Amino acid sequence: MPHVSPGDPRELAATTRAAFRAAYDIEPLVVGHAPGRVNLIGEHTDYNDGLCLPVALPHRTYVAAAPRDDDLVRISSLQVSEPWAGRLEDVRPGSVPGWAAYAVGVLWALAESGLPVPGMDALVDSTVPLGAGLSSSAALECATAMAALAILGEEASETRLRMLVGVCMRAESEVAGAPTGGMDQTVALLAEPDSALLIDFAAGSTRAVSLGPDAPHILVLDTGVSHSLNDGGYAARRRDCEEAARRLDLVTLRDATLADLDRLDDERLVRRARHVVTEIARVERTVTEIEGGEWERVGGVFVESHASMRDDFEISCPELDLAVDTALAAGALGARMTGGGFGGSAIALVPPDDRGRVATAVGEAFVAAGWTAPSTLIASPSGAAAVD
Ligand code: GLA
Repeated sequence: MPHVSPGDPRELAATTRAAFRAAYDIEPLVVGHAPGRVNLIGEHTDYNDGLCLPVALPHRTYVAAAPRDDDLVRISSLQVSEPWAGRLEDVRPGSVPGWAAYAVGVLWALAESGLPVPGMDALVDSTVPLGAGLSSSAALECATAMAALAILGEEASETRLRMLVGVCMRAESEVAGAPTGGMDQTVALLAEPDSALLIDFAAGSTRAVSLGPDAPHILVLDTGVSHSLNDGGYAARRRDCEEAARRLDLVTLRDATLADLDRLDDERLVRRARHVVTEIARVERTVTEIEGGEWERVGGVFVESHASMRDDFEISCPELDLAVDTALAAGALGARMTGGGFGGSAIALVPPDDRGRVATAVGEAFVAAGWTAPSTLIASPSGAAAVD
C-alpha cells in the first residue's frame, strides 16, 4: 500500500526553483508554499458559521514565481500536463479552465481587492495528494497568494494573512466555481506547528489547540474514490443547510438548537440540520478531551461524527465506511471520514505501535472487496504557509 511522504520542504523549495529556471530560463524571485490539511472534526460546519478543527499537513504545495513587466500570466505544474497562459485583465469568473483557476483566480481576487498585481511566470510542485480531500486546491491558492504578496513587497502580517483567506476563498468560489466554506484556506494560512486550529466562523477567530506529546498518530487513508467539490453534492448540502436556517428564521444553523429541529417539517432538512448542530457540539467536546489528554474519548466522538455524516448528512460512501469500520476493528481509537465527502479520505487515530497493523488491515479489506488498497500518510501537524 503506497505511503505518501511529505518530502523535505527546503529540498522541495530548491527543486521547484530549479524547475522554474529550466521552464522559463530566468531566476524565480520567490517560492511561496502552503500545506494541505486534514480536518480532525467539524465537517460542513464552516459555511454554517460553526466550529471546525483542522490540522495542516506536512505535505505542501510550492509555487516559484517571478514578476513580469506586462500583464501576462504563465503557469505550469509538475503534476499536471496542461500549462495555462493568458492576460490578467482577461481573467474573470469561469474564464480559466481546470487546475490553473485556483492559482490564477488568486491573482484575479488580489487585483479585485485593489493590489497592483503584475503579470508573472509561475511553476508549481506539490506533495499534497490530488483529489484526496486533503485540500490540494487551497494549498495551491495559498502558496500562490504568498508568492504574489512577496512579489508585491508586502509583509505577511496577521492582518494580511486574514485578508488572504478571503482572497483565496473568492478565487475558489468565483473563479474555480467551488462554493466552499473557508476552513481549508484558514488553516493553510494560520496553522501553528504541533497543533490543530480551532476555527470559529461566527466569531471570525482562531485558536491553536496543542495536541501534546502523547497524541496518537493521525493516519490518513485515501480511498482513491474521486472527490470533487464542484460537481453538485457539496453545493446541494450547502443549499439544504441554508434552507433549514431560512425556515427556522435564523441567519445560519450556528444559532439552531436540537429543539428547533422540531419546527422543521421536511425530514431531509431535519437530518441535515441535526448533523450541523451535533457536529458543532462534537468539535467543542473534542477540544475539551484533547486538552485533557483523553484520546480514547476523542476517538468515541470521531465515531459519532462518522455516523452523523453517513446517516444524517449522507456524504459518506461504501469505501469510506469500510475504511472507518476496518480501522476501528483493527484497534484505532477512533475513525471518521474527513473533508467534503463523496469519496476522498478517512482518518484514524492510532497509537504509534498500531499504525502498520491498522493500515494493513484496511488495505486487506479493500482488496477483499475488489478495490485498490488506500494510499496512506501520517498527518503530523505542521505550520502555515510561508515564503522561501
Ligand atoms: C471542503 C470545503 C470546506 C469544508 C469541508 C467540509 O473541504 O472546502 O470548506 O466545507 O469540505 O467540512
